[in-house]
Amino acid sequence: MTTIENQLKELETTATQAIAAVQDLPSLEDLRVAYLGKKGQLSQILRGMGKLSGEERPIVGALANQVKEGLQAHLEAQKQTLEAAQIQAQLQAETLDVTMPGVSRPLGHLHPLNSTIDQVLDIFVGLGYTVASGPHIETDYYNFAALNTPPDHPARDMQDTFYLPDGKLLRTHTSSVQIRYMENHQPPIRIAAPGRVYRRDTVDATHSAVFHQVEILAVDQGLTFTDLKGTIKEFLRRMFGAHLPVQFRASYFPFTEPSAEVDVQWKGKWLEVMGCGMVDPNVLKAVGYDPEIYTGFAAGLGVERFAMVLHQIDDIRRLYNSDLRFLRQF
Ligand code: DAH
Repeated sequence: MTTIENQLKELETTATQAIAAVQDLPSLEDLRVAYLGKKGQLSQILRGMGKLSGEERPIVGALANQVKEGLQAHLEAQKQTLEAAQIQAQLQAETLDVTMPGVSRPLGHLHPLNSTIDQVLDIFVGLGYTVASGPHIETDYYNFAALNTPPDHPARDMQDTFYLPDGKLLRTHTSSVQIRYMENHQPPIRIAAPGRVYRRDTVDATHSAVFHQVEILAVDQGLTFTDLKGTIKEFLRRMFGAHLPVQFRASYFPFTEPSAEVDVQWKGKWLEVMGCGMVDPNVLKAVGYDPEIYTGFAAGLGVERFAMVLHQIDDIRRLYNSDLRFLRQF
């Protein structure tokens, strides 16, 4: 064996061991350059080829190629091993444990009065009604006179009114929106008007000086009490389901004739939840509608009462004192 052949064999042995031992890709590249690079050990050894005889040269040349290819194969195999290990390590480091408990962000939600109003409006909008509104500070005309309630009318006592120094008042009901809307629109009309109302009521479990109503008004040709009753019954069915007992009871309001109050069963008793009736011809006249052509029906819903029935709330005051332990239940 020639010296060159020995050197090649030795290179093969040491290089193979070194390649197998290397642990990272940059060091592996350094080894490739050191053994197989232009000025690497293999090139150095082959410089001695010039001294070989004609017979030796092809034999040594073949051996050199074999060693070179062998080392290239080792380098490639080790490169793939190290790359795979690197990817594996990266995956391990970046793994997300999707079963870990998250950081919860507390979300607010609607107050039960607002969600009750939304529910009522959704139902009436579904029946073809438009949502309307009016001012909280009203004149005597819109709150009373135009609603067939002149100054000496005994019905004014039913609603103790907050008067402002300038003679205006805080509206005692949303019925004032009926007049404002009719003044600016021609029949047929169908509106639902939610809002806050004010009365000098003594506060107790079912009364508050500030509360909420939704006013309903429909005016068209040929509307009858049957339309009113059918609409209210369908509304209550959608609101509470078919099982809740409901009764219509004859009543009196200045702005409707005939008038009724509607009760629902709550805690074994009848609870009044709204007033309603056929719009009094005088109200239609006040806004310039001809009562010979048009008839209408109206209703005023007590939002607090609805919320109490819906959510089994025993005291109206709970709806106003912003106790989060209470509000979080809804
Ligand atoms: N405005 C009445 C109240 O606050 C409720 C009411 C009764 C409204 C009959 C109406 C109605 O529209 O037709 O007590």
